[in-house]
Amino acid sequence: TSLVTYRKSKVSSSPIPLPGIKSKTSNSSSPEWTFNRTLSNLIRKNILRFLDAERDISILKSTFKPGDVIHYIFDRQSTTNISENLYNLLPTVSPMKNQHYKQCAIVGNSGILLNSSCGREIDSHDFVIRCNLAPVEEYATDVGLRTSLVTMNPSVVQRAFQDLNSEEWVQRFVHRLQSLSGSVLWIPAFMAKGGEERVEWAIRLILLHTVNIRTAFPSLRLLHAVRGYWLTNHVQIKRPTTGLLMYTMATRFCDEIHLYGFWPFAHDPDGKPVKYHYYDTLTYHYTSSASPHTMPLEFRTLSALHRQGALRLHTGLCK
Ligand code: CTP
Repeated sequence: TSLVTYRKSKVSSSPIPLPGIKSKTSNSSSPEWTFNRTLSNLIRKNILRFLDAERDISILKSTFKPGDVIHYIFDRQSTTNISENLYNLLPTVSPMKNQHYKQCAIVGNSGILLNSSCGREIDSHDFVIRCNLAPVEEYATDVGLRTSLVTMNPSVVQRAFQDLNSEEWVQRFVHRLQSLSGSVLWIPAFMAKGGEERVEWAIRLILLHTVNIRTAFPSLRLLHAVRGYWLTNHVQIKRPTTGLLMYTMATRFCDEIHLYGFWPFAHDPDGKPVKYHYYDTLTYHYTSSASPHTMPLEFRTLSALHRQGALRLHTGLCK
């Protein structure tokens, strides 16, 4: 489905009355972008009324004990327990405590990154956020290598690591974790039921191989708070994507936020096909009405913020 289709869709015509934001998309690679510090500060302040990413980025050891019951955020009637292993990996203080960065990059997983040569530019940011353990080594020229924080939905263990069903996949997974030495691994373990075994396997491997990463498990209120912020600003998202979650949280600890790999469309502006992910064969499943996400709407919102200078959306080639 092309960008044109989304422009025609009903949601696309709804206004996005964030401070000073107009609703049309623009060429997001336009060279004349300048950072709008006033708007960026205002957005940070408004988001802080809904969530504080320094706190909500993770639950802490002090608030839970092994065996505590947790209700899944999207499946309230289903519960899980804080296992001994998970408890061991809970941070004692926020992994983002007192951290502030001038320039952050958030790297989405769209195939628009392929042949972009954006790797070096992405790596030049002070803090680099990536999503869902996306591979980097094989794509370094286009996506870079540095990772300060990376997310891992439990489904990634199944989708990208074959549910660790052989020694080879276990090794690949451990290798990926080891390559993240020093970074934050952000695991939304309590969003939806069904992933608890995968989270537990991942956690056991981290402990077994004493992988040097700092784990974080988002607070139980984060998702609703993020959704609340955007809904209050008339952006009718269903469930925020990982990418939008990361942007919303990053406003707390980053001045200038640069987004790469955000392009939820099957074609680029010249009509050339774009892969859904830069690294696998998944297709545009989110277009189905069953998908919990509203990625094109998120994209239009981010484009509007780009045009206003609150963030910079990179969708073209890097030099
Ligand atoms: N993304 C995008 N365009 C794509 C693919 C991804 O803009 N074609 C952005 C989305 O914000 C997405 C993020 O990059 O959340 C990371 O991509 P992915 O790992 O595919 O996230 P999903 O699994 O699709 O979404 P979620 O994890 O939120 O369910």
